[in-house]
Amino acid sequence: MKENYAVVVEDLWFKYVASKDYVLRGVNLKVKPGEFVVIMGPSGCGKSTLAYTLNGIIPHVFKGEFKGKVIVNGLNTLEHTVSELATHVGMVFQNPEAQIVTMTVIEELSFGPENLGLPRDEIERRIREVVKVARLEGKEYRPTVSLSGGEKQALAIASVLALRPSILVLDEVTSMLDPIGTELVSEMVVKLNKEYGLTIIAIDHRVEWAAEYADRIVIMDEGQILGEGKPEEVFSSPDLVRKIGFRAPQVSELAYELIDRGLSVKKIPISLSEAVETYSKLIDMIMKGEWRPLKNEK
Ligand SMILES: Nc1ncnc2c1ncn2[C@@H]1O[C@H](COP(=O)(O)OP(=O)(O)O)[C@@H](O)[C@H]1O
Ligand SMILES: [Mg+2]
Repeated sequence: MKENYAVVVEDLWFKYVASKDYVLRGVNLKVKPGEFVVIMGPSGCGKSTLAYTLNGIIPHVFKGEFKGKVIVNGLNTLEHTVSELATHVGMVFQNPEAQIVTMTVIEELSFGPENLGLPRDEIERRIREVVKVARLEGKEYRPTVSLSGGEKQALAIASVLALRPSILVLDEVTSMLDPIGTELVSEMVVKLNKEYGLTIIAIDHRVEWAAEYADRIVIMDEGQILGEGKPEEVFSSPDLVRKIGFRAPQVSELAYELIDRGLSVKKIPISLSEAVETYSKLIDMIMKGEWRPLKNEK
């Protein structure tokens, strides 16, 4: 049976005109429709470059040596323009200021659909829909400069959504936001995946968030994918994440530490709710005197 993929990246190599060496070095990645994938890796390893290949910015806008294939919703990015691809893949970046091009919320949301040449009633229908998802209802006529960082980023996501892409690529979209903004945008992203069924590819360094919401975590380094798997697979051994200078979720790190001290932890917890379950059982055993350290305490 032929499987249907939202994204297929096949043996992808890319070198910018100005870069000495290849920045992407044989990347293979398949993402299923509706999947929530988080890409993690150290700064400069090629995450944003990979993102640019998913909507055709590479190689159509940022030129260079491009080898391999990128297929989104069945379309080879080499054979389609960036504006065609934008109705399939929405992309949002780190800095909300840099993405907002108009003066008011409503103008910003109309901009993309107007460029598509959609009729007025369709544009208005889409705006009503995305304003709701972004929690910007009642703020349609606000000047964009008056929005908070989180609201600006929610607006940037909403304007991309007005083009009705089925895939959303998010490149560190909360890294410049305060905690409230981060929460606003993160909740919106989770909702788009869980309720609206969008395929999410998020570049993000928040391990707790990834552990909680990702279907799959992809670990990148030096232009290659080093490993991938469900969060419980990726975080059940600390080696891979530590190799790229990350840590596992704190609740998992605690489990490694306890294992080191001779405690038997059968299932490494990766989320707070799993940790509560695992550790309350352990505490119970300790209280009942059923647990004895295997090694001497350090
Ligand atoms: N436009 C460009 N021209 C030349 N080199 C670039 C360009 N953009 C990024 N690079 C280089 O490509 C490498 C990967 O960058 P990037 O994809 O931005 O990594 P990440 O997003 O993981 O931090 C870096 O060494 C960076 O300096
Ligand atoms: Mg980047």
